[in-house]
Parts: sequence; C-alpha cells; structure tokens
Amino acid sequence: MPHDFMPGLAGIPAAKSAISDVDGERGVLEYRGIRVEELCQHSSYLETAYLLLYGHLPSQAALAKWETDIAHHRRVKYSIIDLMKCLPEQGHPMDALQAAVAALGMFYPGRNVNNLDNNYWSAVRLIAKLPTIVAAWARLRRGDEAIAPRDELGFSENFFYMLTETIPHPLWVDIFDDCLILHAEHTMNASTFTGLITASTLADPYTVVASSIGALKGPLHGGANEEVVQMLKEIGTADRAAPYVEAQIHEKRKLMGFGHRVYKVKDPRATILQRLCERLFNTCGTSQLYNIALGVERRAAELLGAKKVYPNVDFYSGILYDKMGIEPDLFTPIFAMARVSGWLAHWLEQLAENKLFRPDQIYAGEHNRPYLPLAQR
Ligand SMILES: CC(C)(COP(=O)(O)OP(=O)(O)OC[C@H]1O[C@@H](n2cnc3c(N)ncnc32)[C@H](O)[C@@H]1OP(=O)(O)O)[C@@H](O)C(=O)NCCC(=O)NCCS
Repeated sequence: MPHDFMPGLAGIPAAKSAISDVDGERGVLEYRGIRVEELCQHSSYLETAYLLLYGHLPSQAALAKWETDIAHHRRVKYSIIDLMKCLPEQGHPMDALQAAVAALGMFYPGRNVNNLDNNYWSAVRLIAKLPTIVAAWARLRRGDEAIAPRDELGFSENFFYMLTETIPHPLWVDIFDDCLILHAEHTMNASTFTGLITASTLADPYTVVASSIGALKGPLHGGANEEVVQMLKEIGTADRAAPYVEAQIHEKRKLMGFGHRVYKVKDPRATILQRLCERLFNTCGTSQLYNIALGVERRAAELLGAKKVYPNVDFYSGILYDKMGIEPDLFTPIFAMARVSGWLAHWLEQLAENKLFRPDQIYAGEHNRPYLPLAQR
C-alpha cells in the first residue's frame, strides 16, 4: 500500500499508549491521567515513577517497598567505577552515562524480558543506579573519588550527597524532586521512540535505556537547557535582554528554550519551573540569570507571541540547576536520570503487545546498474 513520506514521521502515531498525554492548545500535560501540576504538588519523583510504570498510584505499603527496593539498589559494582575511570575526563557525561548503563547490563544475567519479576528488578536497578553513575562521573573526571550512596537518604537528597558530599537544604531537595517529576515523561519523543524500537527486538532493558540515552544526547532533543544558560550568560545583564531578543529575531536565529512542536501556549512545565525558580530565589537570593530570563521572556512574548512560540521546559530548568551549583554539562544526564522512568514505562507497555518495528521506506535510488570493473573507473 503506498504511503506519503512524512519526514521525521511527523504526525504518524508510532504506538498506542496510556502513559502520558499532551494537550498543546490548552497547555496540559498528564501522566496516567493526572496533571503534572498535581503531581508536583503532592507526589515525589519515586511515586511518580511508580505511577508511570504501573499505571496507578501505589498503596502505602507498595510505595514503602518501592522506595526501599530502590534505596537498596543504588550502589554500582566497583568494576563500573573502574570502567568509568578509564574514560577520558574531558568526555561528555552523557557518553560516560551511556557506556556505564550498557555495561551495567552485563552484570545482571537474569534479563529474560518475559519474566515479570526480572523486569521489576531491572526497572528498580536502572532507576536506582543512574543517579549514582551521573554523580560518580561528575567527581571522577575531576580526580575525586566517587561517593557511595546512603540508603537512609531520599532519592533527590542522596543524589546531591553523592555529588557534593553534603546534605542539601530541604527546599533544594523539594525543588529538585519536582524537576525530576517534570522531566520523567513526555509522550512519543525521540529518545522514547528509540527505546521502543530497541525494546521491540526483545533486547534487555539496559540496552533499551542505553539506546535512549544516545538519542537524548543530541542537541535537538536534550541539551537545550545547557544552551539556555549559555545564552543568558552571553546576554550578561537584564537591560541587554530586549536588544538581544530583537537581534536574534531580526537575524532569524532561534531563541534557545523557546518553541515546541506540540505546545502552542507556554509549556506547563515552564510555568511550574518558573514558580520553582521564584521559590528558590526568594529563599537563597536572587539569580542574575533569572532576571535576564524574565527580560527575554517579556520581549519574546511581544515579538513571537503571534507565532505561538513561548518558553518550553528547557527555559527555566537550567537556571535552577545553575543556582544549585550543578555544572551545565550535567543538565542532560539529570534529564536522563528522570526520563528513565518514562522510557521504562514505554518499554513495559511495548512488551505487553510487542511487534518488531520494521518500517518501510520509499526507495529513491536506481535499479539494474551494471557493475563497472575497477580498472575502468
Ligand atoms: C523546538 C523547535 C524545534 C520546534 O520547532 P517547529 O515546531 O518545527 O517550529 P518551526 O521551527 O517550524 O517554527 C515555526 C515558526 O516559529 C519560529 N520559531 C520557533 N521556535 C523559535 C525560537 N526558539 N526562536 C525564535 N523563533 C522561533 C520559527 O522561526 C518559525 O517562524 P516562521 O514561520 O516565520 O518561519 C523550535 O521551536 C526550536 O528550535 N526551539 C529552540 C530549541 C529548543 O528550545 N529546543 C527544546 C525543545 S523542548
């Protein structure tokens, strides 16, 4: 049957999914039918991860077991740390994360994806160990020893501890946990689709997540938040925000952290992240980058509002992480740490009714060409 070619498969459904939904006109994002605003207000990252994976909020007992299981699987084998020590310290943390996650699978042979028990423990291990790997790499590349996780600390609290060897302010933990919720899932994006393709071959979940990490690394997907912070630093002061926006638009250059394929209003995650910025800066002192960002958003609304181009999730998240002292090249690995629960939810959904992805192509080459011998070319 002939089909029209849609570059990037734009508008072509790749799966039937009950995991998340976006209403781009109304600016609504729901995980399993619950709005992200509500989850940020009432839930935690780990509870949200459970919701994404299993389709319902856990009971008190189920949540306690889930949190304990994850806390008890945060350590990584010393060989993984040794492996990371062999990687070039100037390498991008996403490459180190991808290598470590791919290697991780070699340690857990029970990888039969038809076994529900195995799948549960694979999900636990991946969600638990990604933060340990990200924090370990951040330290190892500077010549510091990796810090072992502490079972009694919460998920986000423990990540900060492994990164900085200090217990963070509870407000930071709270805000960071909300950031993880907001990055946990977002319908059929490039890294999720990549994971689905790998999952459909019945590859193990470590390979699924390693392939998703590879897709997330590209600058058209993850990574824009790093560029937003660079842009705001380049602008330098709030009074230079408006002329910068005008010049970018005049030169037909994209403003980083603005625009979205699906949202035609302000991304609801950007609205929540902006509120989180205000909470953080009211307590911990203002951020010059935030003041510049407000100036950029104000002028951009006047000039780009008619095109329905508004701030997306990447516009305010980098500003928060920057204030927390997190290095810009760790922003995308943190995105991966959160998104792993979405990837795994789609992996489980795919397995429930698996069909190998094997799309078609429209052949645009020649036929029946003769082979020209080497001497005649
Ligand atoms: C995300 C993105 C790729 C979506 O693009 P898209 O849906 O294909 O939209 P288009 O690139 O076709 O843009 C439509 C119009 O809005 C304008 N526009 C879109 N995003 C813009 C931005 N960030 N800055 C300035 N103008 C923008 C385009 O120039 C275009 O204008 P035109 O119709 O006059 O040519 C795009 O907005 C972008 O590159 N944003 C910056 C990078 C970023 O923040 N990425 C993270 C996404 S979560």
